[in-house]
Amino acid sequence: MTLPGVLLLDAAGPEAGLLATAAAARGHQVHAATTAAAYAGYGPELKGLLAGHIATDFTRPGKALAETAAYARRHGVGAVLTVNEYLTELAAHVCAELEVPGNDPGRARAARDKAVMSEAFAAAGVRTPYTVLVRDDAGLWAALADPRLGFPCVLKPLSGAGSAGVTVASGPAGAAEAAHVARETVGMYGSGGAPGVLVQAFAAGTEYSVESLTQDGTTTHLAVTRKQVTGGTKRVETGHSLPICLPPAVVSAVYREVEAAIRAAGIRHGASHTEVIVGGDGRCTVIEIGARLAAGHIGVLIQHALGIDVWAALLDVALGRPAALTPAARGYATVRFVISPRAGRLVSLCGFPKTGPGVPFVRWRAAIGGLVHEPGANGHRLGAFVVTGAEAAEVEERADTLLRRVRIHVEPAPENPGQVRPASTSDIAP
Ligand SMILES: Nc1ncnc2c1ncn2[C@@H]1O[C@H](COP(=O)(O)OP(=O)(O)OP(=O)(O)O)[C@@H](O)[C@H]1O
Ligand SMILES: [Mg+2]
Repeated sequence: MTLPGVLLLDAAGPEAGLLATAAAARGHQVHAATTAAAYAGYGPELKGLLAGHIATDFTRPGKALAETAAYARRHGVGAVLTVNEYLTELAAHVCAELEVPGNDPGRARAARDKAVMSEAFAAAGVRTPYTVLVRDDAGLWAALADPRLGFPCVLKPLSGAGSAGVTVASGPAGAAEAAHVARETVGMYGSGGAPGVLVQAFAAGTEYSVESLTQDGTTTHLAVTRKQVTGGTKRVETGHSLPICLPPAVVSAVYREVEAAIRAAGIRHGASHTEVIVGGDGRCTVIEIGARLAAGHIGVLIQHALGIDVWAALLDVALGRPAALTPAARGYATVRFVISPRAGRLVSLCGFPKTGPGVPFVRWRAAIGGLVHEPGANGHRLGAFVVTGAEAAEVEERADTLLRRVRIHVEPAPENPGQVRPASTSDIAP
């Protein structure tokens, strides 16, 4: 019997690679819809896994939908997935067009456009920060005078990701600059550059995310993840840990809000990643939802800590088969991101961990000799490693110890970018 084909919208990145590997290992033909430029950058391993691809233009969603659906029909595709935040809306439309399990295309925008998300949450009674969409300076000043916002407040692009262009402003001057930054922030596939900026009330508390899988409208929460985030004006993630055990009353409050958010965003078949802040009073505020598996290697953490085959489960949900979601392990896992203390040229690196017992995953992605950024977005991470074990305290301690051993040397960038020698990963000292 021929198995249905599996189509990934954008197959780049570690999560998509693991999904492609899992699908191919189960005997599915794996296809990718991507851009010609992105396909050119796929490595030989990924290209070897793919049975075929279609190069399309994601900046033109109507055209991308028609081309992708036509390709999928020609190749017997029975499951469509994406782990790319920018493509979740398109994925819902492609699934609907092909009549394969997917999310409600009529609501999918709510998981991509934070203004639509805020309205959808408010309409569904999801507890979410008071949010104003401002289109110009006059709108910004009016919003800042609104006592429901106050300072600090958060300014963010409408459809950004990876914390890019998000600023916590403590006063009007900072807010004006932050609005400019948010407006100028450009995401993938032509996202960004819109005049609208969101100004949001600041939710104080501890940040978590909830990783869920919904099948036929029934949601299973796989884990609550604690996020390590930098303080200050730029909130950049520095690590994630799971599973986090919260008091039962808090878990109920969190799950109630998350499930309402999942429904509001039309998530019927697939993964979701909901970011929440739990206040000192135990109340849960939903910051945002993504209609996809979490990034930042959270899938790897779930796999190792809980023994759930996340990639197989995602495939099953996309194929409309019952997914195996019962944990087979009771461990703990954490990821640490290596970030640069300052902008400049990365001169050297040493002490970065290698994989081994309790360290199942490492990934270095910055090039020696290349320019690095002061952390302002998740995309500025230099590398990541995962630590697993039986006990939370020992895993966290080991991860911190390993992180302290990482030494990076960053020099001020030369005035003339021509002086920067070509980046090379071969200079990395283990
Ligand atoms: N209303 C808020 N109150 C408090 N902190 C906030 C608020 N909104 C955003 N933040 C902080 O800024 C970070 C980034 O914001 P947000 O999640 O909206 O952006 P994003 O670009 O979608 O991020 P990512 O893709 O990394 O999840 C959050 O993780 C949180 O630390
Ligand atoms: Mg976020």
